[in-house]
Amino acid sequence: MIFYRFLFIVIVSVTWSCSNRSARQIIDFTSGWSFLQGDDTNAYSINYDDSGWRVLNLPHDWSIEGEFSESNPAGPQGGGLPTGTGWYRKSFTLPHSAGNKHIYVDFDGVYRNSEVWINGHYLGKRPNGYISFRHDLTPFLVFGKERNVLAVRVDNSGQPNSRWYTGSGIYRNVRLIITGKVHVDHWGTFVYTPEISSDSARISLDISLCKHIQDPADIWIETVIKDMKNNEIAVQQIPSMYISDSVTGLTQDFIINSPVLWSVDHPYLYKATTYIYNGKKLTDTYATSFGIRDFSFDAEKGFILNGEPLKILGVCNHHDLGALGAAVNIRAIERQLEMLKGIGCNAIRTAHNPPAPELLDLCDKMGFLVVDEAFDTWRKKKVKIDYHLEWDEWHKQDLYDFIKRDRNHPSIIMWSIGNEIPEQFDSSGITIAKELVETVKSLDTTRPVTCAITETDPEKNFIYQSGALDVLGFNYKHNGWSELPEYFQGEKIIAIENMSALATRGYYEMPSDSIRRWPEAYGVPLKGANEYSMVSSYDHVSAYWGSTHEETLREFYRNSYLAGIFVWTGFDYLGEPVPYPWPARSSYFGMIDLAGFPKDVYYLYQSIWTDKPVLHIFPHWNWQPGQTIDIWAYYNHADEVELFLNGNSLGVKSKKESEFHVMWSVKYKPGTIKAVSRKEGKTILEKEVKTAGKPAKIAITADREEIKADGRDLSFITVKIIDKNGIMVPDANNLVSFEITGMGKMVGTDNGYQASLEPFKANFRKAFNGKCLVIIQSETSKGKITIEAKSLDLQPAIISMISK
Ligand code: GAL
Repeated sequence: MIFYRFLFIVIVSVTWSCSNRSARQIIDFTSGWSFLQGDDTNAYSINYDDSGWRVLNLPHDWSIEGEFSESNPAGPQGGGLPTGTGWYRKSFTLPHSAGNKHIYVDFDGVYRNSEVWINGHYLGKRPNGYISFRHDLTPFLVFGKERNVLAVRVDNSGQPNSRWYTGSGIYRNVRLIITGKVHVDHWGTFVYTPEISSDSARISLDISLCKHIQDPADIWIETVIKDMKNNEIAVQQIPSMYISDSVTGLTQDFIINSPVLWSVDHPYLYKATTYIYNGKKLTDTYATSFGIRDFSFDAEKGFILNGEPLKILGVCNHHDLGALGAAVNIRAIERQLEMLKGIGCNAIRTAHNPPAPELLDLCDKMGFLVVDEAFDTWRKKKVKIDYHLEWDEWHKQDLYDFIKRDRNHPSIIMWSIGNEIPEQFDSSGITIAKELVETVKSLDTTRPVTCAITETDPEKNFIYQSGALDVLGFNYKHNGWSELPEYFQGEKIIAIENMSALATRGYYEMPSDSIRRWPEAYGVPLKGANEYSMVSSYDHVSAYWGSTHEETLREFYRNSYLAGIFVWTGFDYLGEPVPYPWPARSSYFGMIDLAGFPKDVYYLYQSIWTDKPVLHIFPHWNWQPGQTIDIWAYYNHADEVELFLNGNSLGVKSKKESEFHVMWSVKYKPGTIKAVSRKEGKTILEKEVKTAGKPAKIAITADREEIKADGRDLSFITVKIIDKNGIMVPDANNLVSFEITGMGKMVGTDNGYQASLEPFKANFRKAFNGKCLVIIQSETSKGKITIEAKSLDLQPAIISMISK
């Protein structure tokens, strides 16, 4: 493990400028924190000596920096990485001019049990590791040259507390908010669009104000709405009024002519900026981004967006970012979403917790629909020390904060109050579901509420019986979909979690057309899997509660009443490595592996969910002579595919109705397989796969050769082991080491192999089935970055990029 020690105290001076009509400073508060992995009961105190602690920038996840071990308390289910306790401290000064301001610290998420102190004063605890929260620092701050110290204790030692990898630490962003004494409350605006037509839209903006002065305040409010080109399109004022206390429910109404509607293909955003004046003085400025869209669910027609039916084609994802762990990074999330757009995915379910706000911002901007999910457990536990222990004390507050934080995102089309909650099976499900939905509706009546349920007998499903759900979200149960409308008459239904099909990228077992389920019985080794913890990548292995991708898709297209489908999962994630025991430590369910390399099934979705021409053939072409190999092709825009081996035709195949691929069984001979897709005799696409020779060289490519010098931006570099002719060697596992020079650093390596125990932060990584990944992050200085990849007996490779 890498360990840093810096023997100095970092004091950050907070300065700001009051630009034109701006009275709120939102200060990024992520740099220069001191960190201790361990515990020290005195570390809250202002004079504590943290000079020996490591200095780092947030977001930070200490688990991802650790070594894998089966004996780590989180267990393989939690990813097999260390957890425990940690402390963060940050020293900063504030100018005297901040003395008449109100000052808060906002945390987007700390996993878990955060406790915060400012200058030795205790500010409070937050057990839930996914919830965003604020502390008021104002009464305890000092100004001028005197130093303030913020201290945060994080306790993730109670294990296991999750069914998946969580990360540990201040793994999301932190901001300092400096504003006037009368200001918009935390998440204190709510924008909704009560009337939308093609000619005009009525926008309502609810505002809540906090007042921290004794005397009555003479308040005057102005809100300006701008379009994406920064044109001012509407202005409204609330005339001067005296307030003696904090106020809620101030409403402004706007009419916008010819509104540009937000949709998945055209995610158009507006911005409302609210100015709060106390007398003549501007005391706060608050920006709210929003979109104008109209949607509904229908029991027969499914989902309707802006008047047009739209199938929700989504994936469930956990929050980790592979080798980066839980530490939030905008580019890493954007890369995931770009890959999902590439297969026509238009929706994300935030399984099974409140996401990073950056994910929602990106979904707003990139055009994804979101099912925003609050909980995986209520009062009954799923694992020993999970959230059920905090349920009674915290769930109301957590749910309230979650809705308030997220309700302005146009991407969110539905709230989910839970996933596979055990209370669905007894009458407590009725009471709790009612109470949760009531909380949601007290804050937002513009969106339906769902819950991911599994019990398909209406008499036995008590969450359903609560009558509180607007849309029923069923997990799995694809074989029963045709009966659901009869059992749940008049209900709107969405297939909210599906498949749980398993695969390891680049690993194949024959015969490909026999379907294997895990576990047929506990203790029975999975068919379609090998002793090296790899699962065959033909779409023919799944959990028994799910199905292969094709099986569920077939049912989905037969049941047109379903509003949409969510695949479990878009990306492999850390933890939940079923069906394997250790050393497997990450999941097999993704269409894309943990490193971000697509598995073959990615192209199945691309061939049915997008309009771009697709022809994808697999497996690789390195086998034993005489072996019978199944060759599959996913394709679209064509009525047939012809396959050739070394120039000889192996026949023409066409997908029959409700088929998703074609297949040939071929006696292996080294050489080239080539597929040609044709429509009405005209060639659409050609694809070749060639037998590779011995590993000879390394090839590297970067997803972006120009990145921003902001200390956060990333370039994802794919490393391939190739033979002397440039063909990727499909089983190569050479150990590659990386040397980075210039204005960048390595922040992670991976190869997508679910049982790799190499540490993510090491500067080496074995290739897995021909490939590995290295992730480079910019520094804050501009310049060139050079990455050299080396391996014994292989010709090395170098790539350079610019950070500016
Ligand atoms: C589901 C559950 C998911 C995940 C999945 C694995 O039942 O909702 O969180 O555990 O199974 O197949």
